[in-house]
Amino acid sequence: MRSDRTFTMIKPDAVANGYIGDILAAITKGGFRIAAMKYTHISKKQAEVFYEVHKDRPFYGELTEFMSSGPIVAAILEKENAVADFRKLIGATNPAEAEEGTIRKQFAESMSKNAVHGSDSDENACIEGAFHFSGCEIY
Ligand code: TYD
Repeated sequence: MRSDRTFTMIKPDAVANGYIGDILAAITKGGFRIAAMKYTHISKKQAEVFYEVHKDRPFYGELTEFMSSGPIVAAILEKENAVADFRKLIGATNPAEAEEGTIRKQFAESMSKNAVHGSDSDENACIEGAFHFSGCEIY
């Protein structure tokens, strides 16, 4: 399992609020290389599959509705220790609790509309990346 890749999505709130450029700049400044990227729009069904691990949580319906409500940017990022370093860069799930300077602190609206996704393990980074990209789309 490689440890130098993570998967991210710039979520519909941040896209709608015009933050794609700022968030990509923060990602690049944070030392990540973009290995794959696409502007896309997932269906409710796709969001349900992507977030299946949360299917018994009370926010599952709201989360999948939101994630399919508008376009997103999906990307695979490369850096040593990618998963942990990227989660540090994005900050806590709830932006009210996120550290100053983190992406969620700067660009998230709320706990549910929290601007970005970041994989939580090397295994999930691999699964989530493969959900959006085929091998020949990763450079
Ligand atoms: P989670 O995996 O716990 O957080 P993170 O994205 O920081 O890894 O939850 C996935 C997403 O679900 C989270 O980014 C926003 C949403 N969510 C809610 O809407 N309400 C909640 O109470 C929680 C915990 C998450």
